[in-house]
Amino acid sequence: MKDRVRVAVVGGSGYTGGELLRILVTHPKIEISVITSREYAGKPVSLVHPNLRGLLSINFTNFSIDKISDKVDAVFLALPHGVSLNYVPKLLDLGLTVVDLSADFRLKNPELYKIWYNYEHPYPDLLDKAVYGLPELHFEELRNAKLIASPGCNATATILALAPVVASKITDEKKFISDVKVGSSEGGAKPSEGSHHPERQNAIRPYEAEGHRHAAEAEQELSRIAKANISVSIVPHAVSTIRGALASAHTWLSNELEEIEIWKRIAEFYRGKKFVRIVRGNIHPYPDPKYVIGSNFADIGFAIEKRILRLTAFSAIDNLMKGAAGQAVQAFNISMGFNEDDGLKLVPLRPA
Ligand SMILES: NC(=O)c1ccc[n+]([C@@H]2O[C@H](COP(=O)([O-])OP(=O)(O)OC[C@H]3O[C@@H](n4cnc5c(N)ncnc54)[C@H](OP(=O)(O)O)[C@@H]3O)[C@@H](O)[C@H]2O)c1
Repeated sequence: MKDRVRVAVVGGSGYTGGELLRILVTHPKIEISVITSREYAGKPVSLVHPNLRGLLSINFTNFSIDKISDKVDAVFLALPHGVSLNYVPKLLDLGLTVVDLSADFRLKNPELYKIWYNYEHPYPDLLDKAVYGLPELHFEELRNAKLIASPGCNATATILALAPVVASKITDEKKFISDVKVGSSEGGAKPSEGSHHPERQNAIRPYEAEGHRHAAEAEQELSRIAKANISVSIVPHAVSTIRGALASAHTWLSNELEEIEIWKRIAEFYRGKKFVRIVRGNIHPYPDPKYVIGSNFADIGFAIEKRILRLTAFSAIDNLMKGAAGQAVQAFNISMGFNEDDGLKLVPLRPA
């Protein structure tokens, strides 16, 4: 294990890039050596990310693999999907560890890229080598991983809500619907017609309701746990918050188990997981993204309607943290043999 690892953040001008910098700037074992942006090359990072004023005196540079290869040991790619895959093979050939925040290496089955992302995957062999970077499910595989495919935010929220339900066999259902409410930062730093402030503010707007791409990841991971084919439909809703995603996934209990027994099985699944908090209480009985903002926590909870044996699994995350940059650093820490929570001992903001 190295004492200090030098990293590049590629796509450092975006939201997940900025969030990576916010975490890495105080990480005890990481030195940020290179931050790239095409638009802001030559300009100080704090010009784009004013929250980092006085904390990071470094300029953006253009991304050139040849120029960074002797300056860094690892690379975080915070780029749109379809872009990262052009760089990953060469970075791996140079012996660098790669954490890709895009969807380019999340799916194991190359055929799924044609269906969900409209392209033929050019490196199917690398899909086998990539580790899906959800530490609560893949801790052991992440040790020494060279290519980490960091999960999508709506997928993370959905998988964390449903994984204990599927694993604990409290339902016989093989089909799940996850309703996800998510804040505007999910769409990235560049506004579109739909995400422009006057269009987005006060919206409660379903989108991609006939097939959201993150369902492919959720099906892959939940089927692995169930050892059976699981179907998942994710119905995201754009809401007015800036950060935060809440998944509510409804299902039916297979038989009338005592409520305490259900809670025991669910809690057992996440025993010892540093970033999962089980929520059960009176004043705030269900997970709410408001109480995880700025942190890497996932708050998980359940509601049981005994009358009709309905169970709803909830999961609340900060989409830029446990849904992106925080989880990417958590997975990277494991791959490097660091403490899982190095750089991530961040307490959620309140009020936020
Ligand atoms: N936002 C979220 O909540 C979230 C959650 C999980 C995963 N993700 C994933 O993380 C990745 C980044 O998302 P984001 O929200 O940070 O997006 P973003 O704010 O739009 O940032 C994207 C970055 O990529 C750079 N970039 C864009 N097109 C490029 C190209 N063709 N070649 C090289 N650089 C390019 C941009 O920088 P320049 O134009 O300055 O070069 C920018 O810094 C995406 O794959 C996204 O799906 C996002």
